[in-house]
Amino acid sequence: MEKMPYRIELDSVTMPPAVAPVVSSNWQQGLPTLAGEQVVLRELRASDAASLFALLTTEEVSRFISPPPTTVEGFERFIAWTLRQRRAGSYACFAVTLDSTDTAIGIFQLRELEPGFGTAEWGFAIGSAYWGTGVFQDGADLMINFAFETVGVHRLEARAAVKNGRGNGALQKVGAVQEGLLRKSFLKNGEYLDQALWTILNDEWKPRASYAAVNKRLVH
Ligand SMILES: CC(C)(COP(=O)(O)OP(=O)(O)OC[C@H]1O[C@@H](n2cnc3c(N)ncnc32)[C@H](O)[C@@H]1OP(=O)(O)O)[C@@H](O)C(=O)NCCC(=O)NCCS
Repeated sequence: MEKMPYRIELDSVTMPPAVAPVVSSNWQQGLPTLAGEQVVLRELRASDAASLFALLTTEEVSRFISPPPTTVEGFERFIAWTLRQRRAGSYACFAVTLDSTDTAIGIFQLRELEPGFGTAEWGFAIGSAYWGTGVFQDGADLMINFAFETVGVHRLEARAAVKNGRGNGALQKVGAVQEGLLRKSFLKNGEYLDQALWTILNDEWKPRASYAAVNKRLVH
């Protein structure tokens, strides 16, 4: 969500059909449910709006990301938009839930940066109560694997405001390489912030041993 392509004013715009070639699965028809060690990534539902509103609009979560919707109804519209974009084949957004409960506590997003999804950008936001708990790492493993193995991404980019210590630390931790600095590239609260550009290449990403053991169980 740090530079979430969702924009309220585009909400009613009909998206053109996808021009991207079909890749290795029919994720465009519906996202798979992905189970890790402690989290499950699944398709968003309208009923996730209330928990996402409560968890992702706090000051500490939203400090370095594009302004999230400001109401539960706004999140419902955002969720409907994510489903339309997924059907158009240019974007995917997973709800982060815990193994033990179905409540959405965050999101992982993936959007294409070029037709065919060869290069894509990912982003994420998780409720602060779950920071430092391993939820991010677990979800990130699932998301990266989905991008490389299911969607066919070869270069996965992420941008994080340089001031966003946790965001940059999280990207470094999952093996992303910082390629450069995008100077004054992100407008936040009237100020242009520098962002770090982090990338992971398909052929250099090595899943953690514990993740490999879980072996990306596909629930359905
Ligand atoms: C980004 C986010 C999903 C990461 O989840 P998280 O649970 O906080 O991440 P983790 O704790 O697993 O990893 C963060 C790492 O950064 C480190 N870190 C924390 N503050 C840091 C700082 N100021 N500078 C550098 N590293 C820092 C942590 O120590 C941790 O590394 P460790 O586990 O090796 O100790 C979460 O913080 C979040 O939702 N932030 C708000 C939304 C956001 O900014 N999203 C965009 C990110 S580009």
